[in-house]
Formats: sequence, C-alpha cells, structure tokens
Amino acid sequence: MKRLDGKSALITGAARGIGKGFADAYAQEGAVVAIGDVNLDAAEAAARDIGRGAYAVRMDVSRQESIDGAVATVVERAGKLDILVNNAALFDAAEIADITRESYEKLYAVNVAGTLFTLQAAARQMIAQGHGGKIINMASQAGRRGEALVAVYCSTKAAVISLTQSAGLNLIRHGINVNAIAPGVVDGAHWEHVDAMFAKLEGKKPGQKRAEVEAGVPAGRFAVPADLTGMAVFLASSEADYIVSQTYNVDGGQWMS
Ligand SMILES: NC(=O)c1ccc[n+]([C@@H]2O[C@H](COP(=O)([O-])OP(=O)(O)OC[C@H]3O[C@@H](n4cnc5c(N)ncnc54)[C@H](O)[C@@H]3O)[C@@H](O)[C@H]2O)c1
Repeated sequence: MKRLDGKSALITGAARGIGKGFADAYAQEGAVVAIGDVNLDAAEAAARDIGRGAYAVRMDVSRQESIDGAVATVVERAGKLDILVNNAALFDAAEIADITRESYEKLYAVNVAGTLFTLQAAARQMIAQGHGGKIINMASQAGRRGEALVAVYCSTKAAVISLTQSAGLNLIRHGINVNAIAPGVVDGAHWEHVDAMFAKLEGKKPGQKRAEVEAGVPAGRFAVPADLTGMAVFLASSEADYIVSQTYNVDGGQWMS
C-alpha cells in the first residue's frame, strides 16, 4: 500500500521546478495528479515525463474562472479532489523606491489571491465530498524575514503563512488539514531568473549572487526539489491528520542561521 493510493491531487504551477518534483513524488506514492499551470505545453510535457496517470490542466491561479474550471476538470477526470498544493508563484526584486504598482498587483494576484481562492475552491469541493482533504501552501523563508530588495515577494509569502494559519483553523472541522512548507533556496529555472535580477540590481557577475547565497546555507548547498518531497508527501498523507495551520521550514538550516 502506497501512502497516497487512490488520492486525487491538484498541484498548481507544477509544469517545472518544485511543483513538478512534488507531482512526480505524489504519482510514485499512488496519487492521480493534475499538473495545473498557465503554460499548458510545459504542463503536458511534465505529465508525459511523470506518467502514472498524471495529466495537464491549463490553469491561471490569478483568474477565478480558471481556478473554478481547473477544479471542475479534476473532478470530472478523477471523480474527486483530495489534495491541493498551492505552488504557483511569481518573484520580483526592486529597491523600495522603484517598486511599481504593476509588479505589486501581479505578485499579489498570483501569490496571495491565487493561493486563497484556489484553496477556497478546493475546500468547497472537499466539504461537498465529506471526506476531508489536505491543502499544502508553498510559503518561503522569505515570508519569515525581510530582504532589502524583495519587499513585495517577502510580504506575499508572509501572507501565505498567515492564510495557512487562519484557513487551517477554519477548515479542520471538515477534516481538511491546511499546512505550509517554507523552503530556503531551491535550484532550478527560478533561480536563474533571480540570479540575473540581482546581477542587474547589485552589479554582480552572473552566478555571483547564487554562489554567495549558497555559501550562507548551513547545509552547504542549494536544495533540489527532492529535498522537499518527503515533507510534501507527509503533509498530504493520513500521517498528518492531526497537524493544523503549521508552516514547516525545509531549508538546510537557512532561516535558523
Ligand atoms: N526556488 C526557490 O528557491 C524557492 C524558495 C522558496 C519558496 N519557493 C516557492 O516554491 C514554489 C515553487 O517554486 P519554483 O522555484 O519551483 O517556481 P518556478 O518559477 O520554477 O515555477 C513556477 C511555475 O508556476 C507557473 N505559474 C506562474 N504563474 C502562474 C499562474 N498564474 N497560474 C498557474 N501557474 C503559474 C509557471 O508557469 C511555472 O511552471 C513557489 O511558490 C515559490 O515561491 C521557491
């Protein structure tokens, strides 16, 4: 018996990176996984890579009709929804004096409203099913502290931690566990983008910011998505039935240092 046998899962932003790693781990544990992403071609490629019944769903978490459509597709395809991972997010960096309203609104629409309203749509479905469920939000060490050039992203992740606390308290009476994971720094396409941004903002050479950040990780290296999948599977499984509103650091000691 695998730990997620017979479960239907939706993971947002799962066409690449951490979300794709989670989708693969969930599928290996027996779940049927929907890869929700704005980039349908990449989501389809990810579903083919993962196999085991994983399928792609076009989904923009910043649009209500797209969230509702994706949840309806999952229910049509798998008959139900048991697990949601709110993973899709955008990043930006700027001096406080240079933050634009456009960037702020884009990040809040995906990272905060996207998390809340996808959680809401999934919770409505889980309540109607009557068998509880698991919701896992992707926070970040960035939500636990300030970063001089990352005010907006940090504040969206602080909001994710806060939403996790309140939604967990509200939904546990339906047997729905809401928890979150706060990674440190995880290798992948996202970090190429972050490194390039800091190179511009701080006048660094390509790769320099990444190397400096890596030197500060107590575990001595960036994470890879597989470093986080143990926590993601655990929180999605019945082993986590009594865990409510928590955000777990999986960061190689970074936040503690
Ligand atoms: N990589 C890190 O170092 C790191 C650290 C801490 C937290 N996180 C968090 O982990 C999660 C995954 O990070 P990652 O590095 O794998 O991200 P990523 O940028 O590699 O992938 C994000 C995915 O989300 C999709 N996406 C973007 N906007 C979307 C939208 N509106 N609707 C649906 N999908 C959308 C993208 O197409 C992409 O496939 C994010 O929540 C991120 O904030 C990442």
